[in-house]
Amino acid sequence: MLDKLIIEFDKGLRTLAAPAISGRPHPDAHIEESEMGDAERRHALGLMRVNHCGEVCAQALYQGQALTARSDAAREALKGAAQEEVEHLAWTEARIRELGGRPSVFNPLWYAGSLAIGVGAGLLGDKWNLGFLEETEHQVGAHLDSHLTSLPAQDARSRAIVGQMRDDELKHADMAHELGAARLPLPVRALMKLSSRVMTGASYRA
Ligand SMILES: [Fe+2]
Ligand SMILES: [Fe+2]
Repeated sequence: MLDKLIIEFDKGLRTLAAPAISGRPHPDAHIEESEMGDAERRHALGLMRVNHCGEVCAQALYQGQALTARSDAAREALKGAAQEEVEHLAWTEARIRELGGRPSVFNPLWYAGSLAIGVGAGLLGDKWNLGFLEETEHQVGAHLDSHLTSLPAQDARSRAIVGQMRDDELKHADMAHELGAARLPLPVRALMKLSSRVMTGASYRA
């Protein structure tokens, strides 16, 4: 267990400090940069910073959950999805830089919190662990949909990234469901929405 924790801690440091690498081509690789006004660019930057922060949290959640998952099937599925989350991290990080910004200063804080939540969810057993994952992915998917509405219409590059991420997150939700996720009680789902609102509000700004 201690070895595992050290490995996860090392992964955490790398998530926060080193640039992530994508196996798949970036979804916006073939799309030309568009003309944007300053306010539009800043808005797109804020949204992409929120998405990047969400992906940092996804890393921590998946790590925490994989660490404590009981069945091999659950652990392997979590690892596979986590690999796609690394790609999301790479895409959003690159886009933030292109828009002239930096990742959120709050990332280490959310990372630590999410790791604790992931470990906690894993300790409750696989069906709740997967239930938490399914609900998270659904909420993130809905959130990304709202960004597709809110992003500047001409920012095709950010849109391509967010669209692909949304498709991946819904696939992760289905995977968790098929592995036997339990439906979380309503107050838990509401609490998750509330905490993500706090996180997104902060990382949009800084
Ligand atoms: Fe993701
Ligand atoms: Fe996901």
